[in-house]
Amino acid sequence: MSLALNFTYAGSKKLGGHGIPNEMLKPALERASKALEHVRSERKSGKLPYLDLPEDRKTDQACREMAEKFEGFENFLLAGIGGSSLGPLAIFNALGHPMHNLLSNSKRKNRPRFFTLDNVDPVQADALFSFCKPEKTVYNIISKSGATAETAGASLIIFDALKKKLGSDWKKNLVCTTDPETGDLRKLCNTEKLQTLPLHSGVGGRFSVLTPVGLFPSYCLGFDVAAMLQGAAEMREKCLDQDVTKNPAANLAALLYLFDTTQHKRMHVMMAYANGLYGMADWFRQLWAESLGKELDLEGKPVYVGPTPLKALGATDQHSQVQLYIEGPHDKVFLFLEVKKFAKRVKFPSLYGNVSSLDYLGGQTMNKLIAAEFTATREALAQRNRPSVTITFPEVDAHAVGEFFMLWEMTTSIAGALYRINPYDQPGVELGKVLTYGLMGRAGFEDKAKGIKV
Ligand code: PA5
Repeated sequence: MSLALNFTYAGSKKLGGHGIPNEMLKPALERASKALEHVRSERKSGKLPYLDLPEDRKTDQACREMAEKFEGFENFLLAGIGGSSLGPLAIFNALGHPMHNLLSNSKRKNRPRFFTLDNVDPVQADALFSFCKPEKTVYNIISKSGATAETAGASLIIFDALKKKLGSDWKKNLVCTTDPETGDLRKLCNTEKLQTLPLHSGVGGRFSVLTPVGLFPSYCLGFDVAAMLQGAAEMREKCLDQDVTKNPAANLAALLYLFDTTQHKRMHVMMAYANGLYGMADWFRQLWAESLGKELDLEGKPVYVGPTPLKALGATDQHSQVQLYIEGPHDKVFLFLEVKKFAKRVKFPSLYGNVSSLDYLGGQTMNKLIAAEFTATREALAQRNRPSVTITFPEVDAHAVGEFFMLWEMTTSIAGALYRINPYDQPGVELGKVLTYGLMGRAGFEDKAKGIKV
């Protein structure tokens, strides 16, 4: 069972000129085909190692063995930000029990509670550090560069808490996931002889979910990592298909590129009809925004491109955003995430047969209601000429999650080539980082924040 993509509601006929007609799609697919050739040759020359992560047995084994050391721990605290936290959070959100952190130890099957510390919100951080006792917590510090301020700050607090509580044993509850060779965190790990997992050199943060960034927490939480990697590998093969008419990533990239650049549909709204997939929409937002939002093209010419990814939750946001989506500006395309079979079936009891707003629901299921709400919203949008693409999860399981990650990573690579920008860098976030260093008095950056004050 695989993810299924439905492009019917992106075509032109139903959408009063707001869709992408076949004659427009064809040349874009031809360009996507060339982009795919480029992806293939970059893979061959070792420049896109993210594509081969599903077969990296050595790393997989290292993550599994590391996780075995932490069996029985009560808490897992991941300190990392952006690509170093959104992937693991999306996995936890999709595959974990919705009440996981509130369940008893035995109901959690002795798996740890899972927390992420990405932001530097003092109230949130204080609460997390107070709740997670160092002796009962496995701390996973994740930073590819090893210098990110938010993660560096969290690391200091973690090191200090561990040293104070565990004395000479302080390193036992700590695993650092970082570049195998470079960066301050790597240097510190080498000097202090800390336990580490490698974050592959050629894999950028937002493409790193299938490295130890996502695999180690997944093993600790008891998720089916083999199925996730299998799903990713299968999707990769589909997305490498040279027959671009059948290739899901080529189609998605070509359509979304055309919606943005020719139809003024610059808002790409991922609307998940399942709470468990909301984290996936969050992960997608970073991938799409940071990869495609660029000032310069490959020749260094200013182009200022990039669609704006948004997330929404169905049916909740039908009572919040859908008014805007249906009647507001024609500037959006919708990416629906639909689930065919939910892990649970909830039936509405039959009560109050004389109250018509309750009676019709009695005896039916919540599963049917959310399916009906999705179908109705997609149809209503289409009737108001609002295009959409639907990605259907047969079930929310590890295999589908792996497929989803690879689908969007490859779509991003192809879209990057269509926009003619580098999807793997993020120069735009540098200035903010440098100014923060200046404001915080980091050596060598004192001049950078001259004239501005906290
Ligand atoms: O995708 C990216 O490269 C970024 O979002 C990074 O993941 C984020 O800035 C965190 O960086 P690092 O892992 O180096 O601490």
